[in-house]
Amino acid sequence: MKRIGMLTSGGDCQALNAAMRGVAKTLFNAKEEVEIYGFLNGYQGLIYGKFRLLTYADFSGILTKGGTFLGSSRTPFKTIQDPDENGLDKVAAMKQNYYKLQLDCLVILGGNGTHKTANLLREQGLNVVTLPKTIDNDLWGTDMTFGFQSAVDIATDAIDRIHTTAASHGRVFIVEVMGHKVGFLTLNAGMAGGADIILIPEIPYDIDKIVEKIKERHDRGSAFTILAVAEGAISKEDAALSKKEYKKKMEKYKYPSVSYEIAEQIKEKSGLDVRVTVPGHTQRGGSPCPYDRVFASRLGSEAGKLILKGEYGFMVGYKNREIVKVPLEEVAGKLKMLDPKASIVKEAKMLGISFGD
Ligand code: F6P
Repeated sequence: MKRIGMLTSGGDCQALNAAMRGVAKTLFNAKEEVEIYGFLNGYQGLIYGKFRLLTYADFSGILTKGGTFLGSSRTPFKTIQDPDENGLDKVAAMKQNYYKLQLDCLVILGGNGTHKTANLLREQGLNVVTLPKTIDNDLWGTDMTFGFQSAVDIATDAIDRIHTTAASHGRVFIVEVMGHKVGFLTLNAGMAGGADIILIPEIPYDIDKIVEKIKERHDRGSAFTILAVAEGAISKEDAALSKKEYKKKMEKYKYPSVSYEIAEQIKEKSGLDVRVTVPGHTQRGGSPCPYDRVFASRLGSEAGKLILKGEYGFMVGYKNREIVKVPLEEVAGKLKMLDPKASIVKEAKMLGISFGD
């Protein structure tokens, strides 16, 4: 008999349900008897003992559903070892609930912050297997996270729709794409949507280079320009600031996000009409794309296999087109960023896409 705890933590994304279904079906289809307890709203459920015993029916009909049927929350790693407002030791509480339910293993689905806490629990002696979720694709140890491809589809669709209206009006349009501090989502959606300028955090931009590119397009007879701008995009000047100086700048920052700052600068320098579109959380919403359904199901199934073999302390990831197990201590606390020298960046540049550098 195996007793498993399961939780989804951090920002949600598509295919969380598909991944959990993959784990559960693999376990339920095995010879061994299995009980799966679902903790509600991420680590909060594990800390405060909010859980329920899940049945086969809980995992049925959820392959195509977005979000997470267990709920999720952000429980920052920074403060995980601080007592809560009532003095509760959160790490001790998680361990207590794990032992009270006599769990053999926790299956934790999450991104960067989630993996830091998962690794801490492993260090504290709990058995943990994790799955890599995030639309940002910024998790160390895996070439791909589930949720990413679905978000690429949505952000691409946003750019496609902007394309037609931008062309009709001869406007400059900025589509701001999520991705936190990395540019995978923006680069892929930008290329798929035919953006003329792609700005990502890994390649700081020069506003004059952006305006130059827009003018060059105008001179060639293209009245409109599309920019795919990562929410974490940063100018060369800002990138050169110290952490302290940057923080000071941000205290007086008047724009809702970097795209609005760029829009104002383009307007000032070119006199052109600029609009900003922010698809925001739509990029994390709705049904997973077929790729993510298959991918998350495969990762989930491999996680189930590890649990059946009693192999714990791993994230199930994807490297060089193979599903692999990556030790949690290698994953935790590291951010995967896009390499500005990657061939995809070179190819994009050869296509005439400007990165504003
Ligand atoms: O990590 C996923 C993500 O959607 C990022 O792309 C974005 O920066 C962040 O989460 C938004 O967080 P929240 O849902 O807490 O507003």
